[in-house]
Amino acid sequence: DKGEFKHYMLKEIYEQPDAVRRTVEMAVDNGTTSKLRDDFLQRHEAQLKGIKHVQVIACGTSYHSGLVAKYWFESLIRVPCSVEVASEFRYRNPVVVDNTLVICISQSGETADTLSALRDIQKHTPKGLVSLALCNVPTSSLVRETDIFLPTLAGPEIGVASTKAFTTQLAALMLLVLKVGVVQERMTGDNLTTLLGQLQQLPGQLHASLNLDVPIKVMSEHFEYKKSCLFLGRGLQFPIALEGALKLKEISYIHAEGYAAGELKHGPLALVDKDMPIVVLAPKDSMFDKLKANMQEVHARHGELFVFASEESKMVAEDRMHVVYVPDVCETLAPIVYSVPVQLLSYHVAVMRGTDVDQPRNLAKSVTVE
Ligand code: M6R
Repeated sequence: DKGEFKHYMLKEIYEQPDAVRRTVEMAVDNGTTSKLRDDFLQRHEAQLKGIKHVQVIACGTSYHSGLVAKYWFESLIRVPCSVEVASEFRYRNPVVVDNTLVICISQSGETADTLSALRDIQKHTPKGLVSLALCNVPTSSLVRETDIFLPTLAGPEIGVASTKAFTTQLAALMLLVLKVGVVQERMTGDNLTTLLGQLQQLPGQLHASLNLDVPIKVMSEHFEYKKSCLFLGRGLQFPIALEGALKLKEISYIHAEGYAAGELKHGPLALVDKDMPIVVLAPKDSMFDKLKANMQEVHARHGELFVFASEESKMVAEDRMHVVYVPDVCETLAPIVYSVPVQLLSYHVAVMRGTDVDQPRNLAKSVTVE
């Protein structure tokens, strides 16, 4: 039931504060910031202790959450992590080193390529292999066929465009990074306390980011007749740029590409002209100054900038530049909060263009064919 909402997608965007809260509370008692709950993945501590490398396999939006996890695994706890789309991984005879944790991320748990890639790895049984399903459907094939089940507590997702599944995947991946960090003694108590405190602030920040609905709707009017669009981000925001582009093309049928902003001058800058909207994910983080230089490159070529920035950054709108301020959030968890404005933008553009938002042409919610 869509209730008061016009589309399932919008309802699911609005469910994110609660969905993320439920997911975080699997591992952190409300109000407790000093430790993970004892029962969180407790049965699997020995397995998680032994892993030396992480391989993420997924498709579409779930692949993008894996890309964020790579930054987290490597920068926070120094565990090497590779991420690949399942349809490539399974056909290239990849090397899976001993003691790998294979994380299969899937909302449905029935995505054919992800399942087949998992089965291929299991056939070759590398030493110390541990498989984990990060999945929204407890009864799915993926959950049955893996050693560990880490649920996303998003509740059923009906809209073909994945929204709350994505942000809950990110929250759960952060919990997993913390758990591995703790069992492998790769994380100081102080860092853990800080991150747990920040995780508990997430539902409130997501809630506040939903207040951007009105300014983003205004922003979306500039996209109605566009043919093509770029999404830029750096660091942890690069996967969100990819996700923003996927969302826009999927439901509004406008061509969109996500790019690491530092790659701009290696090709896509040639596309930039006054008809090209460029969406930039610009929290005030360690990459902000570099990103600002990238924005100037675009501005100098008459591209029109649509910037999601933090108030702290003091970015101000000017000619050919529109700014929407996103609630302040720590750098590590910013990709979760910045997912909301890109979802809202795609949603409003699609509604304006009159597409079938919940059931876009040619797509299925669960891709069970190869
Ligand atoms: O069920 P899964 O997470 O395995 O699905 C993977 C992709 O098909 C899915 O994320 C797709 O990209 C979404 N429709 C994007 O919004």
